Amino acid sequence: MAKFERHLFICTNERAGSDARGCCATKAGVAVAKAFKRKLYALGYKRIVRANSSGCLDQCARGVTMVVYPEAVWYGGVTEADVDEIIESHIVGGQAVERLVIPDEQLMGRAGPPTPSGS
Ligand code: FES
Repeated sequence: MAKFERHLFICTNERAGSDARGCCATKAGVAVAKAFKRKLYALGYKRIVRANSSGCLDQCARGVTMVVYPEAVWYGGVTEADVDEIIESHIVGGQAVERLVIPDEQLMGRAGPPTPSGS
């Protein structure tokens, strides 16, 4: 397998409509993921940058969520209209698109590794 310079994970998770958390699938997550793949391929980045559809990234209330590694930059509320800007600014230019970045302190999830029980 190729060693990619960057790896994009774009949430396309789907939940039942009755789930209060909603999901990225109903917010066009699949279309966003396809747009990233299509654009990266068109630019010749196929072997350099990998875009993968992912399951839930635990930021469901923010709209379509994605993360770019190795920088671990998280984006929320991503639409198809943002794809070109993220690729041109972040992937090509190395500058995150600040207006879409989810600040670290607002990310859902653990703050650190679990502590051993009893300590
Ligand atoms: S469903 Fe996409 S972040 Fe949870």
